[in-house]
Amino acid sequence: MAISRKTRKLEHIKYALELPDTDFPSGFGDIFLVHNALPELNRDGVDCSCFFMGKRLRAPLMINAITGGHTAVLEVNRGLAQAAARTGIAMAVGSQRAALDDPEVRHTFAVAREENPDGLLLANLSALCTLEEALEAIDMVAADGIQLYLNVNQELAMREGDTDFRGVLENIARLVQQLPVPVVVKEVGCGLSRETITALYRAGVRCVDIGGRGGTNFAAIENRRGGRGGAYLEQWGIPTAVGLLEALSTGLPLAVIASGGLRTPVDMTVAMAAGAALTAMAGPFLRVLQEKGPEGLVDYINGLIAGLQRVMMLTGAGNLAALARKPLVITGFTAEWLQRRGIDVDAYARR
Ligand SMILES: Cc1cc2nc3c(=O)[nH]c(=O)nc-3n(C[C@H](O)[C@H](O)[C@H](O)COP(=O)(O)O)c2cc1C
Repeated sequence: MAISRKTRKLEHIKYALELPDTDFPSGFGDIFLVHNALPELNRDGVDCSCFFMGKRLRAPLMINAITGGHTAVLEVNRGLAQAAARTGIAMAVGSQRAALDDPEVRHTFAVAREENPDGLLLANLSALCTLEEALEAIDMVAADGIQLYLNVNQELAMREGDTDFRGVLENIARLVQQLPVPVVVKEVGCGLSRETITALYRAGVRCVDIGGRGGTNFAAIENRRGGRGGAYLEQWGIPTAVGLLEALSTGLPLAVIASGGLRTPVDMTVAMAAGAALTAMAGPFLRVLQEKGPEGLVDYINGLIAGLQRVMMLTGAGNLAALARKPLVITGFTAEWLQRRGIDVDAYARR
């Protein structure tokens, strides 16, 4: 089992690099910020720094869970962690299951903490993990928090995937209560609905990562790996912008991370204006690291941060609190979905 899990890590990277993002939009293209030609700001003073889980970040951005668990990916996690440290953003390691099964690959995760001793680093395991496993994963990277992932669609598509998810909510409730660090419950590309988020909140969860449709397509990756088949699974899911606005419409005191197909500084700015606590990306960081190496990744992240500051300036927002009060015009499919779900999209335009 450990061998096949380790091989899977390499295949995920191979196919994530080979396959394009899903054709189905994240929905961010439907949402517009309003240009402000009189911003009364100096670009150099635009402050996009924030606090998350008690640590200061230079920008509300995270390298989302990607990998670890095979010696061949040690350098990937080293490069990602170095870039996170040098740019002052957060990072999550990939699923640590392989290192629970085989201690010899622990260093492929631990390297993320070695390279970034003071940064915000999250552990990562399936939401079906046990308390002992979660504690070990946290300890392995001296994590500030842990991501518990929900990936039903991926498992259903995967040749060797889990098919029994009974008891997962109860398991999450137990973990939230007993773990010493904050828990983030995340999807991996199919999104979280308002109903799911409300159920998670009732289970004690205070931070969710939408992980919506619009970017990396895990059903397609699993089908390419020789999965159980079903192209329809590749088209399944809640677009990220829809999931984000559904989450925020609950009014619950939750930190919501926007991820899944975010690709540009405009996407990041829209997500933060809507009320996200953080934005995150996975596929693009992996691609840039592969193509341009660690230096190229640092430049890319610095470009995203500079882009966020520029777009903030164009809305007249000098900091993230001001950005969260700026109007957003929600159009098209995203507006239609939200209206049909009873969500007042016009309230964003009237801010
Ligand atoms: C190669 C690869 C491996 C991934 N492995 C994990 C994982 O182990 N655990 C997890 O929670 N998410 C994993 N993800 C999902 C990402 O964290 C993220 O939720 C998803 O890719 C959507 O974001 P994106 O469109 O910006 O890539 C992985 C993504 C990629 C590209």
